Amino acid sequence: MSMTDASRPLLPPLAGLCSFAEAQRSELSVEECVAWMKRQHYLLVRLHEIFTSRITAEPLFELKSAFSLHAYYCAEHASAFRQRVSELREPPLGLEVIPHDSLKLLCDEVLAAPSHSELVVGIYEVIVPALIESLHQYQQTTNLLADAPSMRVTRFCLLEMQDLVTFGQQAVSSLVDAATRTRLAPWIANLQRAIQSAGGVAGRSLGQPIAMPEPQFSAKPYVFDPVPKRDSRFRDSYNGGVNPEAFLYDDRFSARDKVLMMFYKRLREIDVPEMMASILQQTPVKPWKYYRDMSRQLWDEARHSLLGEVGFVHLGLDWSQIPINFTWSLNLNTQLEPWERHAVLFFIEQGLMPRTGKRFEWEVGQNSGIPLAAVIQDFDWADEVLHAQIGREWYVREFADLNEALGYGDRCWSKVMSHWREYLETGLTRHSNWWPALYQAACDRWKTAPDPAALSFNTTYENTRADLKGISASG
Ligand SMILES: [Fe+2]
Ligand SMILES: [Fe+2]
Repeated sequence: MSMTDASRPLLPPLAGLCSFAEAQRSELSVEECVAWMKRQHYLLVRLHEIFTSRITAEPLFELKSAFSLHAYYCAEHASAFRQRVSELREPPLGLEVIPHDSLKLLCDEVLAAPSHSELVVGIYEVIVPALIESLHQYQQTTNLLADAPSMRVTRFCLLEMQDLVTFGQQAVSSLVDAATRTRLAPWIANLQRAIQSAGGVAGRSLGQPIAMPEPQFSAKPYVFDPVPKRDSRFRDSYNGGVNPEAFLYDDRFSARDKVLMMFYKRLREIDVPEMMASILQQTPVKPWKYYRDMSRQLWDEARHSLLGEVGFVHLGLDWSQIPINFTWSLNLNTQLEPWERHAVLFFIEQGLMPRTGKRFEWEVGQNSGIPLAAVIQDFDWADEVLHAQIGREWYVREFADLNEALGYGDRCWSKVMSHWREYLETGLTRHSNWWPALYQAACDRWKTAPDPAALSFNTTYENTRADLKGISASG
């Protein structure tokens, strides 16, 4: 470089952002960048919707938890695109406008996929790769210096969309056999035609316009299924034969033994995403931040469940040998309105006494001699503080004060029929006490004799709720 004199150190130019060539691109105006980003934003919002809508009724634990994570990623990236669009002289933002009917059809088709085979193909082989291609194209087209803030947004989005594809490829290869793929070929071709018909995700493809394909799965509009489903590892899902809270809050038992019950409680938390997904699905017309915040909490609860799974792996115990009850999400989703479910969620999370709250669980972990239990509870507690903030913003604000908000949540919970006796009488479960066998197996691993009092623990959910309050005759 002739301009460089020998005394000046040679550093990357343009703040290290890009080359001079990339900083001289002049193809995209602000208006064109905004239009393009809105289309990417639309796909992220619809992907978030698709993931969220399938969490509850998806039986496979790995898909349920991955959908929880992927919904959260999409919510975050949609937020980032919204923010960026708002920086580009755009009010009114028009972020709720459908950018093209064919993109809508694409998303409607995948949303209405009849089983998880079609669903994973549609998400991970069609929509997400199309979004990735569009993000790459954007990066190759826009002025990397003038539009540097958009470049940041697309880079971070790409990073996690690639993670989705990596997960999705493995999911597809184990869920979709050759015969299914052959059967789905015309549908997949139609999805690709929908993208083409929209002029690509960007809407900038040249060439002959093609007609929008006919809807197939979405010919009948999608209906959300609020009934939670579980895979074959989840046995005896109506079992309310053990009340882990009664054990956890009983001074007679050791911290180490309580860790077993805490890991059980964590793993069982997969019922929270199942329930929260129904709130998100059935609560339209909120500010986008509501969906983003609630999706974060939903993913946190799925993560807590995964931490419970890790706890069992850590102790060398097979959790599929014990019932992971699902009646909480089942009963809330089928008996309460979305707002009432939110009230119960807040009450259960924040209505806990200090003695029975997250600090207590962390202390149990600390005293248990199992360092992993302390780490899990430490982060669980931190997440709970975040959830308290989310609850204050989106739930408590609707009430005069915190007490009124808590009281309403308590009343809503009391309204839920536990059906404990009915499940027994109709043969859905025998409410067997699974605790002694699990505890004995753990003691065998620890090479210690069981504590006789702990071994004989036998408190059910028949008359006591998880907060140890009595259940009224009606509930
Ligand atoms: Fe949790
Ligand atoms: Fe929580």
